[in-house]
Amino acid sequence: MKIANKKVIMISGANRGIGRAITEKLQQENYRLSLGIRNPEHIPDSISAQVDSELLCHKYDARDSSSAKSWIEATINRFGCIDGLINNAGILHTTGLEDDEEDLLDDMWEVNAKAPLRLTRLAFPHLRKSGAGRIVDIISMSGKRVKGNWVGYSMSKYAALAASHTARLQGWEDGIRVTNICTGFVQSDMTITNAPAFPQQEMTRPVDVAQVVSSILLLPNESPVPEVMMNCVFEIV
Ligand SMILES: NC(=O)c1ccc[n+]([C@@H]2O[C@H](COP(=O)([O-])OP(=O)(O)OC[C@H]3O[C@@H](n4cnc5c(N)ncnc54)[C@H](OP(=O)(O)O)[C@@H]3O)[C@@H](O)[C@H]2O)c1
Repeated sequence: MKIANKKVIMISGANRGIGRAITEKLQQENYRLSLGIRNPEHIPDSISAQVDSELLCHKYDARDSSSAKSWIEATINRFGCIDGLINNAGILHTTGLEDDEEDLLDDMWEVNAKAPLRLTRLAFPHLRKSGAGRIVDIISMSGKRVKGNWVGYSMSKYAALAASHTARLQGWEDGIRVTNICTGFVQSDMTITNAPAFPQQEMTRPVDVAQVVSSILLLPNESPVPEVMMNCVFEIV
């Protein structure tokens, strides 16, 4: 396939964890990738080895609205179009109901809720032009149900889910299909730090999340998957 026909997918937080696994999976497939990374010099060698014409690494900090704009602009300048956006970058502060830590609530609101919405808004006109634009929002089971005491994280992910559903509705007529992926624990730095009591090997693997993302991107407009729940433990939701 000619390079110009390859779809252009943007991935936030591509340097480690789930975002890295998605990036490595899509690199093996037929895409040009635009990676939004807080410190582009932190991109793993395995990813940056891809030929230059098919890969853009751009600075993206979810706390900085101007970097979202410049990442979108750089993507258009390099590739001329955007066909997909993977909203993956996120943070977890374990602040609980009775903790007086409003700065941490604000931080999660900024990074987990406002930032993906901003990218979606900026990407939307380009996804419309695609006629088969795709958005995959990496949410969390914490955006679907409350189980513990991570109140701020849950609030931010419920909000992100609301934005995701709104995008699904608003993009439908123009061929934009939006999927939210709600996972339980996934093996990553996030869970090593914040859920040390749960064995990593019993958690969902990032490569399996990446497999799902890959499959979703291949589905035509007539067969969208609005929501995926992946959970390493049994739960009735
Ligand atoms: N792990 C789980 O159990 C789990 C479950 C459900 C949902 N999720 C969600 O999955 C997504 C990825 O999580 P993960 O497990 O892969 O976590 P991770 O290993 O901690 O990786 C987080 C990624 O987000 C990036 N990021 C954080 N803050 C950022 C900012 N201000 N601007 C730009 N990028 C930023 C990080 O970049 P740096 O390297 O620069 O920090 C990193 O690439 C998150 O949205 C998370 O909420 C994770």
